[in-house]
Amino acid sequence: MAFKKWPFMNKNKTIEEKDDKIKIIPDHVAIIMDGNGRWARQRGLPRIAGHKQGMDNVKRIVEVANSYQIKVLTMYAFSTENWKRPEKEVNYLMKLPNDFLNVYLPDLIEENVRVQMIGHFEQLPSHTKKAVRRAIDQTKHNTGLILNIAMNYGGRSEMVEVVKSIAEDIRQNQIDVDQIDESLINDRLFTSHLPDPDLLIRTSGEIRLSNFLLWQLAYTEFWFTEAYWPSFSEREFREALLAYQQRKRRYGALS
Ligand code: IPE
Ligand code: IPE
Ligand code: MG
Repeated sequence: MAFKKWPFMNKNKTIEEKDDKIKIIPDHVAIIMDGNGRWARQRGLPRIAGHKQGMDNVKRIVEVANSYQIKVLTMYAFSTENWKRPEKEVNYLMKLPNDFLNVYLPDLIEENVRVQMIGHFEQLPSHTKKAVRRAIDQTKHNTGLILNIAMNYGGRSEMVEVVKSIAEDIRQNQIDVDQIDESLINDRLFTSHLPDPDLLIRTSGEIRLSNFLLWQLAYTEFWFTEAYWPSFSEREFREALLAYQQRKRRYGALS
């Protein structure tokens, strides 16, 4: 299996000053932030109130991840299938990056967080693209946690793009079929610059991937919680980290 080496790989790091029970920190945590609508419904609120609360929780969890010295946090914010939702809800979700950054970008800069995005950028509305570009640009020299937002992301459409780009290179005689291997595919994914997630968390009790990082999650450890995303707290995050460090990662070999 092709593993990408990555500059700040640092397994078995201890962070005693933060939490003496947690000794193995995943480099890359991916989160399917689910349950905003149900969180709101439970409180008699409109679904968008759940999305607003979910947005604020992104900031809280970024701080927690930062305090545990996690390197990359990939957050699933909008899937290629979420366009099927009512127009009003989609419009609200497309406005959220701007709202989020208006409130939190100064803090993110201060906290040395680097914002990045994966997903089909061009199909986003222009105001959404503008907000995302601003965040990426203003944090590009930061060296701390990478906050990687998956926006208009779908694992299958990502693979379709990879296949098309390889086919095009073959047609133009840039590469030969025999040169196609795992690392060539890896290099064409949205996540080419990142290590695969070590830990995947999904909130809201749903036990499925919903088209998230299909290639990259091949050997990721999964952790699920009933908590709806807006009420997913540091306590649950810590539980996930505790579970993660109990896992024996064998990658098909014997331990
Ligand atoms: C997750 O919450 C946010 C997005 C998918 C955009 P949902 O909106 O899916 O909330 P539920 O699953 O309907 O409760
Ligand atoms: C997955 O949640 C997508 C995001 C969290 C952005 P969904 O709510 O869209 O997933 P399904 O429809 O329950 O599978
Ligand atoms: Mg959902």
